[in-house]
Amino acid sequence: MHSTYLIDAVQVEAVQSQMQYDEAQAQAAEVAFIERCPAYTKTRKLDELRQQEYQRLDQLGQVYLDYTGGGLYADTQLKQHMQMLMSGVYGNPHSGNPTSLASTHLDESARKYIFEYFNADPDEYEVIFTANASGALRIVGESYPFEKNGQYLLTFDNHNSVNGIREFARGKNAPITYVPVAPPDLRIDEATLREYLDLAIPGGNNLFAYPAQSNFSGVQHSLEWIAIAHEKGWDVLLDSAAFAPTNRLDIGRWQPDFVTLSFYKIFGYPTGVGALIARREMLRKLHRPWFAGGTITVAPVQGNKHFLEEGAAAFEDGTIDYLNLPAVELGLKHIQKIDVDVIHERVLLLTDYLLDELQALKHANGEPLIRIYGPLTTENRGGTISFNLYDPDHTIFDYRLVEGLANTVNISLRTGCFCNPGAGEVAMDIHAEELRECLQDEDRMTFEQLVIAMTADGEHDAVGAVRVSLGIATNFRDVYHLIEFLKTFLDVRSEGVRFEG
Ligand SMILES: Cc1ncc(COP(=O)(O)O)c(C=O)c1O
Repeated sequence: MHSTYLIDAVQVEAVQSQMQYDEAQAQAAEVAFIERCPAYTKTRKLDELRQQEYQRLDQLGQVYLDYTGGGLYADTQLKQHMQMLMSGVYGNPHSGNPTSLASTHLDESARKYIFEYFNADPDEYEVIFTANASGALRIVGESYPFEKNGQYLLTFDNHNSVNGIREFARGKNAPITYVPVAPPDLRIDEATLREYLDLAIPGGNNLFAYPAQSNFSGVQHSLEWIAIAHEKGWDVLLDSAAFAPTNRLDIGRWQPDFVTLSFYKIFGYPTGVGALIARREMLRKLHRPWFAGGTITVAPVQGNKHFLEEGAAAFEDGTIDYLNLPAVELGLKHIQKIDVDVIHERVLLLTDYLLDELQALKHANGEPLIRIYGPLTTENRGGTISFNLYDPDHTIFDYRLVEGLANTVNISLRTGCFCNPGAGEVAMDIHAEELRECLQDEDRMTFEQLVIAMTADGEHDAVGAVRVSLGIATNFRDVYHLIEFLKTFLDVRSEGVRFEG
């Protein structure tokens, strides 16, 4: 989905020469920041951690700013996991032999630890291992009884894997409704939400899905909505993929029906494991459209009937990722040792600094360089910031140019729509009629074609953005580096967006 952008040598040289790192200046900026923000010193242990556990960032000169894309792992996590693998013999957990039992023991220990980490009562909740958050969302989507007086309500601000559930709802003729987010903050007005929630079908199967934190704007939507929605007759799916890495998620307190997440976003390693944490009562409501090895008690070929396993097993298709699951426990223990509240605090303080600095970047004629999509303060927001760059005449810089140049100075950021088209459409003022017109004759459309169609008449200059996101190992220097990089666009003329179909 990612197209390349031709960057000429002159642009690269200009950025690289201006990015000459001045250590004295960087130090002075850090001292000034700490004077302005003394609370930052309380998170100092994360600087030590970076030196001990994430040293490769500095050794390789990488400025990593894509934590919403994927978290980073500590050296210790890898060592502990390898040690565990090298000191045992582990077989497929679907048996009762000693090596199988050894795997089962470790995997069940990981499951237990997840309950503890998220404060979920095992009598009330079930942890189902999946490949990622999308896999967890799919289980809910394909099994939810939309066909029995059902409906699907979701926020504009959602990852595509939550949007995709609408296809299951549509297939079962259930109404689908989107709750709008309002610009410029890209938040949902609570009074409006209540009106939508009032439309629950009495005695029906009403599913409401929203993200605890937006992967586009960083907005944190209120967890209080879970109780409000329950009261009005909704089952609540809380997508926590972007929230859990830098926030404490207390399932016992908030009582969502379904929680979806990917572990690599929290602690980097292993990839390939996510979870659906679901209320047991809610699982009984789901109806799986198929069965697989491991999910049934019996399924005789000649009986043409099957009986599902109890609890999580009924939803874990085939063999779980049994060698990687113990690494989930190691990862969660790593976070618990650091304390997620400390990570949260640091990310928030650096986000605050970044938001101020981005807004302070002005061309010589006083025009701003940056347009941020979403909240401009850290109130109810996380460390994900999406924005575009504009030249002194307010011509946009193609985000692919920005990414291409960031690559040349080892800054990892993300560009595009981040699989969250709804938030992007509102942020960029793109309306349903325009989209309908542009999509109507197309059997297939690439993202580039969509951009060309939307920008052709000059009404829109952007259909995507640049995104930076902070996380566990982010330090002041990362943020400083980014600002220095963005400064290289000051007083430079842009040629605008150059998509070719
Ligand atoms: C809010 C949110 N939900 C769901 C997902 C999907 O996660 P995965 O790609 O790991 O399935 C992401 C990934 O970025 C996300 O940010």
